Amino acid sequence: MTTSSSSRRWPRVPGIAFGGDYNPEQWPEDIWAEDIALMGEAGVSMVTVGVFSWALLEPTQGNYDFGWLDRVMDLLAGAGIGVDLATATASPPPWFSHRYPESLPVTREGHRLWHGARQAYCPSSTAYRAGSTALAGALAHRYGTHPALVMWHVNNEYGCHTPECFCDASAAAFRRWLRERYGDLDRLNEAWGTAFWSQHYSDFDEVVPPRLTPASNNPTQTLDWKRFCSDELLACFVAERDVLRAITPDVPITTNFMGAFKPIDYFSWAPHEDVVSDDHYLMGADPAKHIRLSMSADLMRSLGGGNPWILMEQSTSAVNWQPRNVAKAPGQLKRNSLQHVARGADAICFFQWRASGSGAEKYHSGMLPHAGTDTRVWREVVALGADLKTLAEVAGSAVECDVAIVWDWPAWWAVELDSHPSTDVQYLDLVQATYDAFWHLDVTVDFVRPDADLSGYKIVAVPSLYLVSDDAAANLTRYVEGGGHLVCNFFSGIVDPDDAIRLGGYPGAFRQLLGVRVEEFYPLLEHQTVTLADGSTGRVWTELLTPAGAQVVTTYVDGPLPGSPAITRREVGSGVAYYVTTLLDAASTQRLLHGVCDAAAVATRSGENNAGAPIINADGIEAAGIETIRRRADGASYLFVINHTDREVDVPATGLELLSGTPTAGSVHVAAGGVAVVRDDGAIDARSHAAVG
Ligand code: GLA
Repeated sequence: MTTSSSSRRWPRVPGIAFGGDYNPEQWPEDIWAEDIALMGEAGVSMVTVGVFSWALLEPTQGNYDFGWLDRVMDLLAGAGIGVDLATATASPPPWFSHRYPESLPVTREGHRLWHGARQAYCPSSTAYRAGSTALAGALAHRYGTHPALVMWHVNNEYGCHTPECFCDASAAAFRRWLRERYGDLDRLNEAWGTAFWSQHYSDFDEVVPPRLTPASNNPTQTLDWKRFCSDELLACFVAERDVLRAITPDVPITTNFMGAFKPIDYFSWAPHEDVVSDDHYLMGADPAKHIRLSMSADLMRSLGGGNPWILMEQSTSAVNWQPRNVAKAPGQLKRNSLQHVARGADAICFFQWRASGSGAEKYHSGMLPHAGTDTRVWREVVALGADLKTLAEVAGSAVECDVAIVWDWPAWWAVELDSHPSTDVQYLDLVQATYDAFWHLDVTVDFVRPDADLSGYKIVAVPSLYLVSDDAAANLTRYVEGGGHLVCNFFSGIVDPDDAIRLGGYPGAFRQLLGVRVEEFYPLLEHQTVTLADGSTGRVWTELLTPAGAQVVTTYVDGPLPGSPAITRREVGSGVAYYVTTLLDAASTQRLLHGVCDAAAVATRSGENNAGAPIINADGIEAAGIETIRRRADGASYLFVINHTDREVDVPATGLELLSGTPTAGSVHVAAGGVAVVRDDGAIDARSHAAVG
């Protein structure tokens, strides 16, 4: 599915924007000129300014000191560098919490958190709302017509450290939210199932957040709390956004997301901003970190409805907040950055411009390292700036993709609530298992809400959608009836939006669509695996299933349910619905999805790689590690080839390789760890060509 970017507002920066967080307030003013000159050398076109500068902008309440920021804005405007100006509200200054101690957040255990780090505010604090909107308004009045201003950056990484607060003000706000959701207490009592454990409420004032309790909290109360916390932070964003919009209606507004961040339902947030932006950091110890990068990028593109998005932060090399902070290998900076571009990012930015000399993040890499410009990082930054310039024409094109994975925050929150059949059912594990299989098959995917328009997709995968509304279940059913291929995993369709079991047999909402009836779950012990008749193995889960219209694809040969169906398939209308009752090993997931891709006419990589070895190796795992992604615009098509391997490869492509300016006839050569971007006629599908080599 592709979407045009014309309906979205985008910062007024040509081509692919390049830059990072610029925190000049951390440095003496006499080095600012050097900063600007070096930004010019690197080709920086946009910087984010002022993210943590509330204390300097408003040193005492209501007294603003904009002098230093005026000079920074003027310098940047003079150099033709656009400013994504932060509203600076992510970290209230010490004077603020000193004056409004009730604005400090409280943990579930009842501890108040202090200032002295960052993000020490309660999202429901009236003082915080008033202070943050006042500052946003003052900045909009001051800089709304400044030539450097290209975008507003509201707050920063909402909820990163303080996604929830359990103070009395939050409790009161929660009750207001619940009144709005349920109207009356009877409905709340019914939704929360309060007949259980003597939890019936007779007055709204008795309702509190799910604070520390002697046993498991009421699950629906906890689920509603998560919904409330996401909404309450959104209200903070919307309050600032509305102030900015009223004063500067033409300036686009964003706030930076954090990828697959559990506390915030970004699908409900994204429509409230003009541009989706994201911060993505690699987890150094994760061997699949390059796949996590792709997944996060695909999620961001999907949140914005397919429109270009902004990579607001990544690191040039090591971060400072992991146990062991791994430096990036040579070439990784470019590969990571262009991987984001391939998946729809039209801006590549970093945290941060100049590595800090003091403070908690002084060991975090920057574009300009402590050691200065005679460094590998600096040289790679400059080279990346030049590469992005050569890719300017790619900006605005849309990523092509015909497979979607359903992603739903409320289902995530609900499936991981307490007292479930198995703590091993972890939402991200399930989504990632599906995503990784498609990644290895070189199939680009979108993420969609379960109630989204699915008509543009040939395959829709549903990794454990535990909670689902009737409407969303009907939407997925219609998709299959209309000819779609759906692959649904276990523990789906189990509860309604109140977290109440859909009675009559599992998988509740999908029983009919899948043509199965499950009478009991048989989760596996930690590390226990089961074998299936087709040779697959599974872990985490099995269940006692009786077909009711579905064919059995394969059965369990051991484990708690030998002989019982493990995978089923049902033709519905002109489509097909598969049901998978265990967490298949990676190779088997890939094999299953490969078959579905073939049936749905979705191109996958197949055949052999350049070493003559099968792409799917003996363990069944794709061994090539090469991504091909296509972006298209009116009259132009761009094939991105990202080589994550330590071998050079040749990939079918005929056109112009933009990074080197070299015409390619038949194939493009991509160095080990390298990237190629070929403008071609879009006719050749590199994946369908067996040999990359
Ligand atoms: C986040 C924040 C930045 C910085 C980086 C460090 O993304 O937004 O201010 O702390 O992390 O990785």
